[in-house]
Amino acid sequence: MTQSLPKAMITAMGSYLPQTILTNKELEKVLDTSDEWIYSRTGIRERRIATVNESTSDMAAEAAKDMLDKYNLKADDIDLLIVATVTPDMFFPSTAALVLQKLNHSKGWGFDLSGACSGFLYALSVGNAYIRSGMAKKVAVIGADKMSAITNQSDRNTRILFGDAAAAILLEPSTDYGILDEILYTDGSGKDYLYMPGGGSRNPASHETVEKKMHFIYQDGKTVFKFAVKGMEEVSEKILRKNKLKGSDLTLFIPHQANKRIIDATTERLGLLKNQVLINIDRYANTTAATIPLGICEATDKKILKPGNLLLLAAFGAGFTWGSTLIKWGMS
Ligand code: COA
Repeated sequence: MTQSLPKAMITAMGSYLPQTILTNKELEKVLDTSDEWIYSRTGIRERRIATVNESTSDMAAEAAKDMLDKYNLKADDIDLLIVATVTPDMFFPSTAALVLQKLNHSKGWGFDLSGACSGFLYALSVGNAYIRSGMAKKVAVIGADKMSAITNQSDRNTRILFGDAAAAILLEPSTDYGILDEILYTDGSGKDYLYMPGGGSRNPASHETVEKKMHFIYQDGKTVFKFAVKGMEEVSEKILRKNKLKGSDLTLFIPHQANKRIIDATTERLGLLKNQVLINIDRYANTTAATIPLGICEATDKKILKPGNLLLLAAFGAGFTWGSTLIKWGMS
């Protein structure tokens, strides 16, 4: 009898949210904006902001510690750590290296993965491959971003949209439960619509790049919005069709939280009911690589998922990057 490959099952999770809450009302005082405008266009009411001394690796390590504590695990159990982020502490060493050091773990290995708002789904895919191939038994995947570090505080177009957070999950082999399928895309022709021009090898940091505010996010919101709706809808429909499923077969859909209108358009296209969709953008805004694992933590806290339930994840982000992951939930 041929032995089928194991699935990668989510067996633990943890999160970290900075304490400081920045509300739309507070932003009204410093930007030409209003709570009404922000909420009606995006669904956001407030976001968390890390302190100046708190970096992405600090938040990621706290999320990992929360996971290890809650599930009685040791850092040394982790074979591989993948940190999805676009706001690493620095170019090198990697955020993963810094997190492993904060966890006093020097027996495994890890690296960063840059996939913007789809970063967590990309990292999940890599973790899935390591588990399925048998190359690792325990893969930790963290989505962590300190978006406030790269957001122009006086730009109302972008500052209102983002928040800071980190969340972690653990993947382990299972014969019955885990990742069933995934569809991922990258189309670099989206590069001009959402990007940070300065600091890399094209525009290394200089007085000029600082003066021209090139170390901040630039976004053509309208164009990104259009592509995000199309990308999230199409890839989510495609993965359901490919697996001969309907929206009604899903227990839960956890979409990337960039704009509630993008989420609503996708859930409408899939024919999902309100109680099938996890939405927390009102409280945390867009935390880039952290939105989906944060959603997984919240769904688990609320005990929404039972073993055998189907969970769909979908994301869209800079690049453009987008994708969808279908999971047969295994934790009780
Ligand atoms: N407060 C008040 N007014 C604002 C504002 C703010 N924070 N930001 C922009 N405006 C103004 C604009 O200047 C514009 O004014 P004008 O008509 O006088 O030129 C008007 O509001 C409409 O702006 P527009 O950009 O057309 O709004 P929108 O409905 O497209 O919403 C976004 C803007 C950013 C919320 C929306 O485009 C979006 O969510 N895009 C996708 C973002 C995204 O998902 N990014 C991450 C992908 S992972």
